[in-house]
Amino acid sequence: MMKFDIVTIFPEIFESYLNESIIKRAQKEQLIKIKVHNLRDFTGDIHQTVDDRPFGGGRGMVMKVEPIYKAVKAIKGPKAKVLLFSPRGKKFNQKKAFEFSKLGQLIMICGRYEGIDERVAEYIADETISIGDYVLMGGEIAAVVVIESVARLIPGVIGKLELLKERLSKEKGFIVYPQYTRPETFSPKKRVEWKVPEVLLSGNHKRIKEWRKKYSKIVGESSKE
Ligand code: ADE
Repeated sequence: MMKFDIVTIFPEIFESYLNESIIKRAQKEQLIKIKVHNLRDFTGDIHQTVDDRPFGGGRGMVMKVEPIYKAVKAIKGPKAKVLLFSPRGKKFNQKKAFEFSKLGQLIMICGRYEGIDERVAEYIADETISIGDYVLMGGEIAAVVVIESVARLIPGVIGKLELLKERLSKEKGFIVYPQYTRPETFSPKKRVEWKVPEVLLSGNHKRIKEWRKKYSKIVGESSKE
């Protein structure tokens, strides 16, 4: 079973996500376990201080190293990988998702405010990860993105292993092609018809396969990084 541990000052953000059907079932079936830890529980003062003013001056607050150190120390198992989310990190992709899906435990540190004391990246985290070239308010959504992409690679989570393999290319990317369902023709207004490609209604499996191949995108192909 793979464990995901999230360290955050906003544990409520994850509440509805943990109730999402696939994630809920995967936990019930003990394929994965997601635990959300409130960083404030690892502070020592009555105010439960998690941030402070930056050395060198400047606007805003910086998250302190000590509560994060204590949290990771309390959570970390023998085979854990510790991730820190930051727009300064290495770009996350499908290949990374595959790599992470083989781990026993993934600890994810979510930063908020203007930044995190750099010693977290230097001494505590094994990797600093960015989910894209934009700045979020914090790492919480990044943690959901990582869980979402990693959990579905764990056998059993999105159905049978065979189903997963069917959509995997040799290069370990995912083959993604356009899908349609009923009705065959949708009319949003008079004289306008949105049709399903004829080939998909033909019942000709060879032609359907060719059509899907033509319009496939391989997500996460190593050569296209
Ligand atoms: N925190 C703020 N921006 C981020 C990003 N792009 N990726 C990961 N964590 C972040």
